[in-house]
Amino acid sequence: MTTFDINSGKRATSKLVLASNNAGKIREMENFLTEFGWTLQSMADYRLESPEETGQSFEENAALKANFVWLQTGEWALADDSGLEVDCLGGAPGVATADFGGWEHLLKVMETVPEGERGAQFVCVLALKNSSGAPFYFRGVCRGTIALQASGTAGFGYDPVFIPEGDKRTFAEMTKEEKQGMSHRGMALRELKTWLRLHQVRVN
Ligand code: IMP
Repeated sequence: MTTFDINSGKRATSKLVLASNNAGKIREMENFLTEFGWTLQSMADYRLESPEETGQSFEENAALKANFVWLQTGEWALADDSGLEVDCLGGAPGVATADFGGWEHLLKVMETVPEGERGAQFVCVLALKNSSGAPFYFRGVCRGTIALQASGTAGFGYDPVFIPEGDKRTFAEMTKEEKQGMSHRGMALRELKTWLRLHQVRVN
């Protein structure tokens, strides 16, 4: 059973450690949580390397990272595990996205796939860990298509080839705020924010 019991129920420690060394992810998460008063830190602040991601699902990998950071630092930990699921590849690369070879490789693999069959989705699972119980999970999914060619320079990872549903531009052609408004990570962060407000989480 999960518990939400740390220092008198709703009081958080003053630091929230983002269980990631991915600068792109950290940039997208850091502005989002300011209202709760945490000092945000990253694994680099503790000279921690990411643990090996041996899980079979985004949830398992997010939990693995959040548990590791919580155990190492004793502070609240927030992990992001995310990836790209491509329809014509049967949902691959999924949890293995970080090791897939980047968007250049993806475009090559999909060279002969016609425009109407290039559906895909980005998935993001956040795991928040604040006690010895199981973490709390927040999930966001963003449907879209894989472009025929790369465009744009903003963002990170597969952004230059991902066109979210309802838009004609890739994530890499958008401002950070525009991407956040429709992305898998933005959706998961909004879920997290709602949960934190609901539970009136505050720092000291
Ligand atoms: P992991 O969560 O550390 O396993 O890495 C997920 C990988 O998915 C990242 O290294 C990126 O290549 C990719 N990815 C996740 N989220 C995004 C995004 O918002 N834009 C582009 N690529 C992403």
